Amino acid sequence: MTNNKKLLAWVAEIEAMCTPDQVVWCDGSKEEYDRLMAEMVESGMAIKLNEEKRPNSFAFNSDPSDVARVEKRTYIASLKEEDAGPTNNWIDPVELKKTMTELYTGCMKGRTMYVMPFSMGPIGSDIAKIGVEITDSPYVVVNMHIMTRMSPKVLEVLGDDGEFIPCLHSIGSPLEPGQKDSRWPCAPIEKKYIAHFPEENLIWSYGSGYGGNALLGKKCLALRIASAMAKREGWMAEHMLILRFTSPEGKQFHISAAFPSACGKTNLAMLQSTVPGWKVETIGDDIAWMKQGEDGRLYAINPEAGFFGVAPGTAEESNPMALASVKENAIFTNVVVTDDGDVWWEDMGVECTGGTDWKNNPWKPGMKDADGNEIKGAHPNSRFTARASQCPVICPDWENPNGVPIDIFVFGGKRTSTLPLVHEAFDFDHGVYMGATASSEPTAAALDLGNVSLRFDPFAMTPFIGYHAGDYMQHWFDMGDKLGDNAPRCFYVNWFRKTDDGKWLWPGFGENSRVLKWMCDRVEGKVGARETPIGLMPIDGDLTLEGLDISDEDWAELMKVDGELFKGTLADAEKYLSKFGNKLPARITKQLQALKERLG
Ligand code: GTP
Ligand code: SPV
Ligand code: MN
Repeated sequence: MTNNKKLLAWVAEIEAMCTPDQVVWCDGSKEEYDRLMAEMVESGMAIKLNEEKRPNSFAFNSDPSDVARVEKRTYIASLKEEDAGPTNNWIDPVELKKTMTELYTGCMKGRTMYVMPFSMGPIGSDIAKIGVEITDSPYVVVNMHIMTRMSPKVLEVLGDDGEFIPCLHSIGSPLEPGQKDSRWPCAPIEKKYIAHFPEENLIWSYGSGYGGNALLGKKCLALRIASAMAKREGWMAEHMLILRFTSPEGKQFHISAAFPSACGKTNLAMLQSTVPGWKVETIGDDIAWMKQGEDGRLYAINPEAGFFGVAPGTAEESNPMALASVKENAIFTNVVVTDDGDVWWEDMGVECTGGTDWKNNPWKPGMKDADGNEIKGAHPNSRFTARASQCPVICPDWENPNGVPIDIFVFGGKRTSTLPLVHEAFDFDHGVYMGATASSEPTAAALDLGNVSLRFDPFAMTPFIGYHAGDYMQHWFDMGDKLGDNAPRCFYVNWFRKTDDGKWLWPGFGENSRVLKWMCDRVEGKVGARETPIGLMPIDGDLTLEGLDISDEDWAELMKVDGELFKGTLADAEKYLSKFGNKLPARITKQLQALKERLG
């Protein structure tokens, strides 16, 4: 299997600590996938969907307490507290290892321990990283099969003394002899820990089986640990989709966009362009790793191999390519299983007569609880897992180990007021400021954000920066300096502005291609822009609205920059950034002052 001493020693150490009934090394094969699925169907954890409607697909329902990332239980255990910074939960690594070792001791009793060598990024590529996840959850194994590259080749590349990132995961629910397992075993919230040791490139996760808490290649490795490595090594690990936008003449633009969780990355990555002749191809929908190439430009790869996408809202109308990606060989978590053995979720755009909801209860549309509130069939953070290769518009270069050269960075979030549809940065420094002060209304992708109405979420990375957010902002400036004239052009978008009576002002989804087209025209120098205090905005007529049913008043509202409202956001941003103390880059302060002056 492997002669890698470090790996063998680590696996032996974890086995001794967690005392599973058996250890299974995973090879990522179809046989392994089918066998684990069959076992989970047998145990009642998985539901096999109707083979005719949804071939080779399965549904899972989690414990109602374990439905999303838990940010309050996510830790950066750097040696020094100041290295984690004000946006992370810091915990002393020595203390934490003591606490977690106690939790891990005997935690896999009655279960199988799976060892999964995987690659983030094309196996063997310069920019790829090897991780090994140990888990006691077969659900995690089948998801990692789709989300990462798992195959015996990974161990070949690792060799006898290659480096890997150890990712330890347990659901934290040992089984006594004869004890009946629950459908979705996990530990209570106060015992959950999603821990990162950035100086050691080490991940320890305990107690949750859901999403980013458990599929450790994703947020834990490819963002938190990778961002710390990227800072040390001079590259970037970002919460960004990557897409190729091709003009009718065949000119390619590569766009990378950072929106917070559940704010539209998967949708934009696969959009069906409504601008005649222009087309989008998907490279990634959640994470980008970017390095400067020999020609001086910034090259991006998608380290993942699949999509772990938000189900609700995914419809033929909004995101047909995501729907096509989950036609077969897919995993669904926390959706409705319909009476005829297919899946359904809110705003899927098709009728549902009834089925079993995500809490395993019989369910019909329109059902109400005791207080008269409608019962949702799918959890708002329900997800599908599908191979990227199943996406009909996957880019032929999506696995190119050299990546694609990025022309445009887009920042954004969900703001129902204040932020216009689109504005452009004056220069890269101003772009960094835009990214650093990006803000959004909270979504269902994290469990515990509380009752805040607005959250600053720099570069959509708040929960994913593995070190001090001030140093992270400085890293953006440093990358800009290194890239010079090759730095991508920066834009800020907001698809989510609403009317006073709560309707979307902008149709969004495929129509967002109009905004992308304007950005490309700007890059090409085909159109000018008008200067406003907050940045450069489209001159009327340059962003084509042809064929759109949008009134002049609505358009004016979408493009409106209300100076007073914006000053409010600016004051909030200033307060937020003051938390960074002397780690706040002087260039951010300079941008802040300049914006203040421009707003008057
Ligand atoms: P994560 O996987 O959590 O990182 O989320 P994401 O950024 O990939 O978000 P996703 O594309 O899944 O979209 C989240 C929600 O926003 C879905 O309910 C979408 O239907 C909705 N959404 C996406 N794009 C648009 C848009 O242009 N307009 C509107 N109104 N809603 C959108
Ligand atoms: C996000 O929350 O940004 C996600 C889902 O992409 S998870 O994998 O759970 O992090
Ligand atoms: Mn995400």
